[in-house]
Amino acid sequence: MRQERRHPWPEPGPRPGRGSELLRGRRVTLRPLQPADFEQWRDVRVRSRDWLVPWEPRRPPGAPDVATDRQAFAARCRARDRERQLGTGYGYGIFVGPRFAGEININSVQRGPLQSAYVGYWIDEAQAGHGYAPEAVVVICRFAFEELGLHRLQIAIIPRNHASRRVVEKLRIREEGLAQRYLEINGVWEDHIRYAITVEEWQERRGELLAEWVYPDPER
Ligand SMILES: CC(C)(COP(=O)(O)OP(=O)(O)OC[C@H]1O[C@@H](n2cnc3c(N)ncnc32)[C@H](O)[C@@H]1OP(=O)(O)O)[C@@H](O)C(=O)NCCC(=O)NCCS
Repeated sequence: MRQERRHPWPEPGPRPGRGSELLRGRRVTLRPLQPADFEQWRDVRVRSRDWLVPWEPRRPPGAPDVATDRQAFAARCRARDRERQLGTGYGYGIFVGPRFAGEININSVQRGPLQSAYVGYWIDEAQAGHGYAPEAVVVICRFAFEELGLHRLQIAIIPRNHASRRVVEKLRIREEGLAQRYLEINGVWEDHIRYAITVEEWQERRGELLAEWVYPDPER
């Protein structure tokens, strides 16, 4: 059956979402990182270096290390703010109470007939295994589909990254297949499995996903 949906913004261009600065899940709060977050950021990034390096793009030669360089971190925060203003990307720190726990980003927002973006995430090794990443993904889906008016979100995962595949499996996000040599990760063009969710799927499943991951637990 052909499904029709008119997106709310017919013209491409920047459209920062309402209330986009602070997004709440059941336990996680998402907010843009600020230069004042540097100490927490540095502690987590330095401690989790070996945990993260196998899953991230290699730092270009000569580029400052944002994990340890306060100025580089501040510049990164400013770049993310600019993306938000332009409507091209939305970067969030994941916080559990006041504690920084990782990041989740909506990257490369494409408007026009695509109305699409990519989602990436990571969690502090010391805070892994609590379901913070899947909770943050559901919060991001709600924001992207209901406030930004996007039509499709994609998450690309290296096949051997079993922890990340568990995140999308728990959320029952649709697997689309293998993209060969898709992204440069730690210096290698790695195959990735593409997972995607469209707004039609979100509308069908939002009640179930929000009840499971976002709304306060009635038993608690
Ligand atoms: C992938 C990642 C974001 C998952 O975050 P999370 O908040 O721990 O997610 P969950 O709690 O739902 O755990 C997902 C799976 O991770 C694995 N896992 C959990 N704790 C772990 C730990 N301490 N060490 C290794 N793996 C662990 C388990 O397989 C778990 O699945 P299960 O709940 O069925 O046992 C996190 O492992 C991470 O940041 N990894 C390094 C960076 C990365 O891979 N980013 C994603 C790139 S696509």
